[in-house]
Amino acid sequence: MDNKVLKVENLSIAFGGLKAVDNLSFDIDEGEIFGLIGPNGAGKTTVFNCITQFYKPDEGDIYFRTNTGEVENLVGKKTHEIIGKGLVRTFQNIELIRELTVVENIMVGAHVEFKASLFNQFFRLKKTRQEESRIRKRAEEILDHMGLLSIKDMLVAGQPYGVLKKIELARALMLDPKLIILDEPAAGLNDSETLSLVNIIKEIKMERNCSILLIEHDMKFVNGLCDRICAINFGKLLAIGTPEEIQGNEQVQIAYLGKEDD
Ligand SMILES: Nc1ncnc2c1ncn2[C@@H]1O[C@H](COP(=O)(O)OP(=O)(O)O)[C@@H](O)[C@H]1O
Ligand SMILES: [Mg+2]
Repeated sequence: MDNKVLKVENLSIAFGGLKAVDNLSFDIDEGEIFGLIGPNGAGKTTVFNCITQFYKPDEGDIYFRTNTGEVENLVGKKTHEIIGKGLVRTFQNIELIRELTVVENIMVGAHVEFKASLFNQFFRLKKTRQEESRIRKRAEEILDHMGLLSIKDMLVAGQPYGVLKKIELARALMLDPKLIILDEPAAGLNDSETLSLVNIIKEIKMERNCSILLIEHDMKFVNGLCDRICAINFGKLLAIGTPEEIQGNEQVQIAYLGKEDD
């Protein structure tokens, strides 16, 4: 695990008779942008849910180098416990608090997120003024980096989809993660929004000591961005390699054949 941040070993999980993930292994280097791709239904989100222990895998181990440098097996841990150790994620469907402003949503990210109580946490935070101003300053720095400072005091409700995606990513950065997992971040974005997201992800890689696991079915999006890619179908490994290797891989091409528009 020398220069690895995550090591997934022989991961399997079945729903009823369906093997959604089948003996899958891959690992991610420190500072790497790693893609997990596959057609719709391939098992990508299930892998994501196993890593964050939202699902309990039937078999396998998931080793993670935490933000204190120790290596821990995530299997059996609680989701919020894992997030506190430096592994954060954004969802395929955006989860933000529409009634709060942009900067307030980012500030919530400073606390180990726990969906149901996000709103309450924000108001608890307001009570400790000093802490609040320190967190607000960091939130504004991150927003500035993402080109969102000018809308910091606007409500989240009504913001365009591409902006919501950026806000969600900004919130994840508040925890100073070792690894960020993004589940289909480009889904629903138009071309210019996608380009802007690609640039932000590149900047995150350059400026932070952080790895990114990019889960995506769109090959075009991952090719220009990832150092290495793992392609799966029917929960099974097809290939791991550079974007060029994956693009040229026959098994991957067959898996994607006729599924480009899914
Ligand atoms: N909670 C669940 N219960 C039953 N089947 C599930 C569940 N989650 C995912 N699946 C099934 O597992 C397979 C992989 O799904 P998913 O991981 O969402 O694929 P992807 O994210 O690659 O599109 C699909 O056949 C899906 O229907
Ligand atoms: Mg999915």
